[in-house]
Amino acid sequence: MPARERLPALNGDQAPVREAAAGQPDESEGPQDTSGVPFADPVGSAALAADAGTALHLLREGGLTVHGRLTDASNAVLYCTATLDGLTAPCVYKPVAGERPLWDFPDGTLAGREVAAYEVSAATGWGLIPPTVLRDGPHGCGMVQLWVEPDPAAEELLALQDPAGPEPGWLPIVRAEVGPGRVALLVHRDDERLRRLAVLDAVLNNADRKGGHWIPAADGRLYGIDHGVTFAVPGKLRTLLWGWAEQPVAEEALDVLARLADDLDGALGERLRPHLTDAELTAAAERVDVLRRTARHPLPSPDWPSIPWPPV
Ligand SMILES: Nc1ncnc2c1ncn2[C@@H]1O[C@H](COP(=O)(O)OP(=O)(O)O)[C@@H](O)[C@H]1O
Ligand SMILES: [Mg+2]
Repeated sequence: MPARERLPALNGDQAPVREAAAGQPDESEGPQDTSGVPFADPVGSAALAADAGTALHLLREGGLTVHGRLTDASNAVLYCTATLDGLTAPCVYKPVAGERPLWDFPDGTLAGREVAAYEVSAATGWGLIPPTVLRDGPHGCGMVQLWVEPDPAAEELLALQDPAGPEPGWLPIVRAEVGPGRVALLVHRDDERLRRLAVLDAVLNNADRKGGHWIPAADGRLYGIDHGVTFAVPGKLRTLLWGWAEQPVAEEALDVLARLADDLDGALGERLRPHLTDAELTAAAERVDVLRRTARHPLPSPDWPSIPWPPV
């Protein structure tokens, strides 16, 4: 079972603060004037996210303007617009220069792994990660990802319920202390989009699938973000999506995994190679093989904290 840990309020402030900034990764102090920061229109942002060809061209070739820095981010995450041929779209730009080194990810870059994660997601056909590219920008090479505006009307995908639960339509994550002597059950919805995301995360070996790392878009689709700590060789799956642990992988996901296995051996593998080590590529292919062989969702590892903290 995942470690039992103390839960803070789950519906705390998840919304990022987009501070207007001078564009320097380390200049974000003090109150800022946000009046000039363009905000994404939820419908337009969802439409572009689903049109990967157009979005990738815009992100790769468009002129980047930095409008501000995301203040809830642990690395430099800059809120930008990309403009090309009269089309402008908000995006995030994470320059490699703004990455904090991680002892357990000594090779490659967070930005490169984010692009590699996007490539795998694109190969599944599930479109679970917004279009993402690696390119030069105002602060040097970095990843640029289309901004997906969260749909404020989207239903909650996480909840705290009575420990005797879960209620119908929900799946258990972990029992957690929520106050002195008070235990609650943290649950996520039994949702097809989350289930696909759980399979993708098992392939990516995602070490950071917290609740703030998926975004429900206005068109009903769900997008995963923040895939910098993925593709490690040892098992590091850390996620909230344990509701299907040890359950059979859906038939459609097995078909996708079969295609992924071939693709990793071919064109997809070549697209990943610039971003990953040989050992990381081999490990990714092995994870796909294990998922296909067992045909079951993975269990939490006893050797690794399997629940992200904080959970949102
Ligand atoms: N593609 C995106 N679309 C919308 N919001 C995003 C996107 N990428 C990042 N964000 C927002 O920016 C915040 C910080 O980005 P994140 O990728 O989590 O950076 P970090 O690696 O520093 O945690 C996220 O919590 C989210 O609110
Ligand atoms: Mg994050």
